[in-house]
Amino acid sequence: MKIKELSKQVLTKLKMTDCLGDGAGDMTPMDLYEKLTSQGDTVRTLKTEKAAKADIDAAVQLLLKLKVDYKQVTGQDYKTGCPPSECVVSQDNGPAADGEDMVDPWNVSTTNAKGVDYDKLIVRFGSSKIDQELVDRIERVSGQKAHRFLRRGIFFSHRDMHQVLDAYEKNKSFYLYTGRGPSSDALHMGHLIPFIFTKWLQDTFDIPLVIQLTDDEKYLWKDLSLEDCHRYTMENAKDIIACGFDINKTFIFSDLDYMGASPDFYRNVVKVQKHVTFNQVKGIFGFGDSDCIGKIAFPAIQAAPSFSSSFPQIFKGRKDVQCLIPCAIDQDPYFRMTRDVAPRIGYPKPALLHSTFFPALQGAQTKMSASDANSSIFLTDTPKQIKNKVNKHAFSGGKDTVEEHRKYGGNPDVDVSFMYLTFFLEDDEQLEKIRQDYASGALLTGELKKRLIETLQPLITSHQERRKQVTEETVKQFMTPRPLNYSF
Ligand code: TYM
Repeated sequence: MKIKELSKQVLTKLKMTDCLGDGAGDMTPMDLYEKLTSQGDTVRTLKTEKAAKADIDAAVQLLLKLKVDYKQVTGQDYKTGCPPSECVVSQDNGPAADGEDMVDPWNVSTTNAKGVDYDKLIVRFGSSKIDQELVDRIERVSGQKAHRFLRRGIFFSHRDMHQVLDAYEKNKSFYLYTGRGPSSDALHMGHLIPFIFTKWLQDTFDIPLVIQLTDDEKYLWKDLSLEDCHRYTMENAKDIIACGFDINKTFIFSDLDYMGASPDFYRNVVKVQKHVTFNQVKGIFGFGDSDCIGKIAFPAIQAAPSFSSSFPQIFKGRKDVQCLIPCAIDQDPYFRMTRDVAPRIGYPKPALLHSTFFPALQGAQTKMSASDANSSIFLTDTPKQIKNKVNKHAFSGGKDTVEEHRKYGGNPDVDVSFMYLTFFLEDDEQLEKIRQDYASGALLTGELKKRLIETLQPLITSHQERRKQVTEETVKQFMTPRPLNYSF
């Protein structure tokens, strides 16, 4: 293009954007993104072709103006090759310069003994707080008392939950999707959180549920054979079934099996793959040049179950059934990406409910994680192991001596035993009494730990008993692609 023409264009555009003013809000983020990209090209061409300084300055001025408009409209900084999307928000997902908390699917860490600052995370991730109004509305719509995880802010953040409830009130059903990456034989207590809550949602709203077991993910990320990962899938499925899911309403699947068996699922995977750039997944997940290409393509596989057409046997080919995903907030990067892609491939965005992390025994600076056995209470632990782990490792908010503790009281906000009780002790009044007694010094650390041990031991023992009842045949039934008890 001739320099004169380019310069003329710059002037016309400059006038146009001046008119935009606040009207930039009328343009879609994609319009602005495209304008910015083309303006960047214009500046480069003018510079390469050594245009007059005034023309270059005008073009740069317009570029800067567009960048300001873009930030105003999207809340994000413009990045070449990275179209506007919810996933751009996730680029500051890792540790920020000022030492913000690190939360991604592989790492959770903070320097704060009280744990991750979840209010800040909501702002960073661009989700919404589950406030009292939403909790009340869930109670109203479902006719059930809110689950303790909702009452206590353990599920603290959401995306589009009001939309799900609006539709539900108009008799439009939705389905649940959650998952597990089977990296070992045993689940830990942290893994139970989303499953316990998902069961409550299934019972409360009477809706179908799909559970993805990402044996492919664990093969790609860990030093495990495909056979190991698939075996862990079958073992983990037993623990998940033992949470009490209804066989007539639940489909559990291994990626290694279902991807090959379901053409519709795989079609959705490739649709997602076509609409996400390498730049975007690098920004979201931090992939580098030495990551295998399986990892780079994997997020599309975790995205696909968010679309009802991936399960034609359940939804009879319908593409429009809304999906709701309960998970801890570490999985959100996958679903920011999914929500960004969904409208572009003609599907509704999945809604989400995010939980906080069940902390490591050593303290809330990190989540309970299977990769550190000492940080975790496993669902296979014996009553004795539970007792020893709590007594030996559970970080205490108590004072150094009994005298000091009685005088100054303990700090329940950093005490891991108290935190665990907030997840598992059902009775609100008892919990509040324990909090007050501990804070006043009336309750000692040893006594608090005893309360926790007495709460966890029967819970895990009864889980183990239910798991024993789960036969290979039952696992097979849950994992067979089939219609569920719903007519779509
Ligand atoms: P995985 O196996 O790491 O975790 C399974 C589920 O448990 C949650 N979780 C926790 N929740 C509370 N406290 C903790 N300490 C804790 N540790 C883990 C996770 O957020 C997750 O909900 N890629 C996934 C598998 C997956 C998935 C999904 C999860 C596939 N599709 C859809 C949720 C929703 C994974 O490896 O999860």
